[in-house]
Amino acid sequence: MSKFWSPLVNDLVPYVPGEQPKMANLVKLNTNENPFGPSPKVIEAIQAELNDNLRLYPDPEGEALRQTIADYHKVQPEQVFLGNGSDEVLAHIFYALFQHGEPILFPDVTYSFYPVYCGLYNIEAKPVPLTESFEINPEDYQQPNGGVIFPNPNAPTGRYLPLEQVEAVVQANPDRVVVVDEAYVDFGGESAITLVDKYPNLLVSQTLSKARSLAGLRVGLAIGHKDLIEALNRVKNSFNSYPLDRLALAGARAAYEDEAWFRNCCDRVISERERVTEALENLGFEVLPSKANFVFARDKEQSGETLAKGLREQGIIVRHFNKPRISDFLRITIGTAEQNDALIKGLQSL
Ligand SMILES: Cc1ncc(COP(=O)(O)O)c(C=O)c1O
Repeated sequence: MSKFWSPLVNDLVPYVPGEQPKMANLVKLNTNENPFGPSPKVIEAIQAELNDNLRLYPDPEGEALRQTIADYHKVQPEQVFLGNGSDEVLAHIFYALFQHGEPILFPDVTYSFYPVYCGLYNIEAKPVPLTESFEINPEDYQQPNGGVIFPNPNAPTGRYLPLEQVEAVVQANPDRVVVVDEAYVDFGGESAITLVDKYPNLLVSQTLSKARSLAGLRVGLAIGHKDLIEALNRVKNSFNSYPLDRLALAGARAAYEDEAWFRNCCDRVISERERVTEALENLGFEVLPSKANFVFARDKEQSGETLAKGLREQGIIVRHFNKPRISDFLRITIGTAEQNDALIKGLQSL
């Protein structure tokens, strides 16, 4: 604390990202990164941008990338908003669309950045309990609110809500924005982007950090009705006109242009996820059904904390949340076959 701080800063509770330890031979399964690298075409596109033009500002509107994404998802470029990772996109969403003097609804077990944005903008949060089996029940979202947000698949549970049920939440809240955070949708879910032309209150956010293996490039997006996108642009242009640099704009475009690479990476992650799930079940774990690039699992005997510590001693890092309802669970990112073998072997030894 310091007398120079704005008073609000004293009470801020920032998000704590998964650690990025600098240990050698680490099996890093804690931040849901993709174990497979980005398309070589992405690297080429970034390399082509490494020239004298770096002295010039990038396109503030990211027009070419928005057009590429619009074509990919069969929407108009005016329906696409870009940000420096979907975290930044979400921050602008909370500011631009969730300040209506009523609480924001999100699951009690979900992405822990949502309450942080509420704290930053002084928005009331109302966590809505997931069911016993950690599922979202659409009927629970039929109550007064200033907006609704949930990831689909949810994080850290990995559980997926079928599109008809997402639609039910959107239909139940015609006067509020419903945000579907699809950071993990490409690992087996169906995107709600196909519904945005039907519902002016639906906004879908996505990221290139997971399925497109570009967490280090920081590119996220939102797709929805052009009026929602205009609100986000107003906030963005009051904050930072150039959230995406030249390298990010070029690399992201190339990522959308290499569909075969993208599909292949997703397929490999999905098949490894099924193998890890089976191996964990054979070890006596309960594994929630996952459509993400991670699994959420608990052992019937040992606590999550003990297991996370035991794995760490073997150089295997997974995520453990010391929070109500989920403190027994481990969130394990799906790695390469070798990394997953190391994880399974590591757990066998505990
Ligand atoms: C549910 C969810 N949404 C959004 C993000 C943010 O991703 P990024 O800022 O890398 O796009 C994450 C990252 O882990 C996430 O789990």
